[in-house]
Amino acid sequence: MKNDLIISFIKECFNTSNFIGLHEPRFIGNEKKYLNDAIDSTFVSSVGAYVEKFEIMMAKLTKTQKAIAVVNGTSALQVALRLCGVQNGDEVLTQALTFIATINAIIYNGASPVFLDVDLDTMGLSPKSVESFLEEFGELRDGVCFNKKTNKKIAACMPMHTFGFPVHLDELITVCKKWNIPVVEDAAESIGSEYKGTPTGSFGQLGVFSFNGNKIVTSGGGGVIVTNDIELGIQAKHLTTTAKVPHPYEYIHDQIGYNFRMPNLNAALACAQLEQLNLFIENKRNLANQYKAFFNSIGVKFRTETKDTKANYWLMCVELENKKERDNFLKETNENKVMTRPIWQLNFKSSLYSNFQKDAQLNAIYLEERIVNIPSSTRI
Ligand SMILES: Cc1ncc(COP(=O)(O)O)c(C=O)c1O
Repeated sequence: MKNDLIISFIKECFNTSNFIGLHEPRFIGNEKKYLNDAIDSTFVSSVGAYVEKFEIMMAKLTKTQKAIAVVNGTSALQVALRLCGVQNGDEVLTQALTFIATINAIIYNGASPVFLDVDLDTMGLSPKSVESFLEEFGELRDGVCFNKKTNKKIAACMPMHTFGFPVHLDELITVCKKWNIPVVEDAAESIGSEYKGTPTGSFGQLGVFSFNGNKIVTSGGGGVIVTNDIELGIQAKHLTTTAKVPHPYEYIHDQIGYNFRMPNLNAALACAQLEQLNLFIENKRNLANQYKAFFNSIGVKFRTETKDTKANYWLMCVELENKKERDNFLKETNENKVMTRPIWQLNFKSSLYSNFQKDAQLNAIYLEERIVNIPSSTRI
């Protein structure tokens, strides 16, 4: 009965009886103009004016010193981890409740994830879990943090701002500072979200955003690394552009770099989309308010931003009573052309990633059984 009401309400919100996706892109600004311009310029590939323009826009938006555009968020994470010192055999503290790319990026560097629990309110890495883990297993040796159990260096901590809801950043940064652990924010989902008025992605040594087609603004495929450390920013650009030493015509490379640069064509799309970010977020926050009033009225928990934060409401979600209710909801909504998706399977449950150290994961398991994403697109 409740599910019927929810399905009708979502259809009403999107004013359609056709299929409603989870998050669809909207192209209502300068997209075609900038794309045509990029084509006319013949600079469609790895260099061009839009790449620089986009990087300047992203640095301004995130209030950081440098932004580097790359091919996708996953490669941005991979490079960000490497730049903050993650090497073969190291460990990275992170959450199991995340999209698999967070974990893949750790593995690409030859490092191991340590899965720590999330907070129930933010659904992102819990500073308390990090602190308890470090109290039990951490050891500072000449100022470098090691895991006493595995004898491996804990080279980074990577929180993820789930669905655009910022983690408790002050507490997390404090505990990581105490243990000398650099922070890389996986802000792939949280463009435009703020913690105490400051943009997510700008708190760690490095932050990473995704511009995949399912995000609020998209470049088709794309990612950005941001940092306040200018030297790290220069290295990020160098490493992601094949580590070529600047020279008018010689090919000299001083590291094994990556060809991760964002093509100008994608950057043109990204610039046009970024111009509309604030509009899209305001539009989504209106939808969130409508959802909040409706779900409150029928006694279903709709997830809202936590204290001290402003969320971008990338993917909106409800928290159902239990797994059985969740499964029914998923089935009935999808059968009725309203797309819904469960939150991710905890990464340690995948046979790929079952052998890494983890804590009790009580909150992550609770959320995994109950959280479902509902249609969240910007409405035009
Ligand atoms: C949490 C998280 N991390 C990383 C990524 C990877 O970004 P991309 O798809 O651009 O590689 C995504 C999304 O796609 C994500 O949601």
